[in-house]
Amino acid sequence: MKNRFAQYHSPLEQSLKHSIAYLESLDDREVIKGATSQELRELIGGPLPLHSADPVQVIDDLVKNVDKGLLASGGPRFFGYAIGGSFPASLAADWMVSAWDQNVPYYVGSPAMSVVEETAAEWMVELLGLTKGSAVGFTSGAQEAIYTGLITARNTLLHRAGWDAARKGLYGAPRINVVASDEIHSTIKRALSMIGVGLEDVIKVPTDDNLRIIPEEVSKVVASCKGPTLICAQAGCIDSGAFDPFDELADIVEEHGNAWLHVDGAIGLWAAASDKQKHRLKGIERADSIDTDGHKWFNMPYDCGMIIVKDPATIISAMGGNNMGDYLNDAMAKPDRNAINFGIAASRRARGVPVYAAFKSLGKEGIVSHLDNSCDLAKRMADKLAEVDGITILNDVVSNRFSAQFGHGDQAYRDDLTERVVHRLQDEGYLYPSTSSYKGLKTMLFSVLNCHTDTNDIDLSAEKIINAYLTEVSRDK
Ligand SMILES: Cc1ncc(COP(=O)(O)O)c(C=O)c1O
Repeated sequence: MKNRFAQYHSPLEQSLKHSIAYLESLDDREVIKGATSQELRELIGGPLPLHSADPVQVIDDLVKNVDKGLLASGGPRFFGYAIGGSFPASLAADWMVSAWDQNVPYYVGSPAMSVVEETAAEWMVELLGLTKGSAVGFTSGAQEAIYTGLITARNTLLHRAGWDAARKGLYGAPRINVVASDEIHSTIKRALSMIGVGLEDVIKVPTDDNLRIIPEEVSKVVASCKGPTLICAQAGCIDSGAFDPFDELADIVEEHGNAWLHVDGAIGLWAAASDKQKHRLKGIERADSIDTDGHKWFNMPYDCGMIIVKDPATIISAMGGNNMGDYLNDAMAKPDRNAINFGIAASRRARGVPVYAAFKSLGKEGIVSHLDNSCDLAKRMADKLAEVDGITILNDVVSNRFSAQFGHGDQAYRDDLTERVVHRLQDEGYLYPSTSSYKGLKTMLFSVLNCHTDTNDIDLSAEKIINAYLTEVSRDK
């Protein structure tokens, strides 16, 4: 009898061929090809298919029809937002994850994947110098990790205040004070709005010129917070890369008695792995919970994030794994790692496998070299731009990113010019920075996260940025 699984052979082989062609095009590919949504709908949409089609043809058509609408965000000159590429072994491992198609929240669902994720989690905690034995959950990204971390914080703070949130819900619960910097990321606010803590009463603490929270201000505010208090800080601000002062924040938490420190490390936590950079994150190991992303600076294929919680008992209790149906009693009784204890998903792919593959293929040395290289390249670009009259770098470049503004004159003119320069660069397609804002100024946000970016990309991109700036200015004369 013919092997029924032989039918996967041709479509997978075709996918391999197209994948390699796409990846090899990234060196020269325009970052964006600019197809309109209408053009894409015409290529991709149409009536619901009634009949079957050859899987190889499906893959060929898919590849052809999406091409003009792909953003080459995995390429070496994508400098916008916070998007990384993929380490080769991690991308290949991710394919294996799809082929194995294992469901990993329970050890019984995949003993092998559970042990791979357990190992990746332990290596990650060691690499980052965090507390041995911390719990690590693999999530879809930092947003889900933040959500998981803040639910853990909420339940633990309320439990210490004598309230069982899992059983009683939040009606009548003690109020939780929330203290956060005025630069806190939108995904923290989003999570607060979803977990019943609310946004209205968040106490915003000012930041310094580098968008770093001012610890003396936190101290003053927290001193007046009676009862459960959540402090949200960040390791790597999206617009400046700045790290909040974790040691000082951890001292404030300790003094308070019932406070919790959550650190959003989506952008910069990985810097803790580097001897050159880790002094900027001093005290990070004292945070109660930390979220980070695999798919940004750590160059995992989408999607991959992590939540790290110093006291595993708190996340295990908050994730409520003991409330599962009887059909899962056997599964939960296993003494081995049940990942459902460290995350929300009751079914998910083995996101820890590409992480494991990165550790195996690069080793600590290779990972640190990628991290240091990104910071050096961001600095190299900032230094080149700063030499040009009329280009202002707004922050000290301490990590993988910076914000810049273009032009002289009043703010309205500089804001408009900056936006025009960024849009010109995006339209030209050689590189892709994005727009953002910095203390009320419109900016170009420049972020280096991709493991393939090199000095040549930076030098040629610097020329393009300077040319775009000079061209836009000359149009105004
Ligand atoms: C500082 C910060 N925190 C959290 C997030 C959310 O990460 P994700 O998109 O992986 O959910 C982002 C995304 O850009 C971010 O920049």
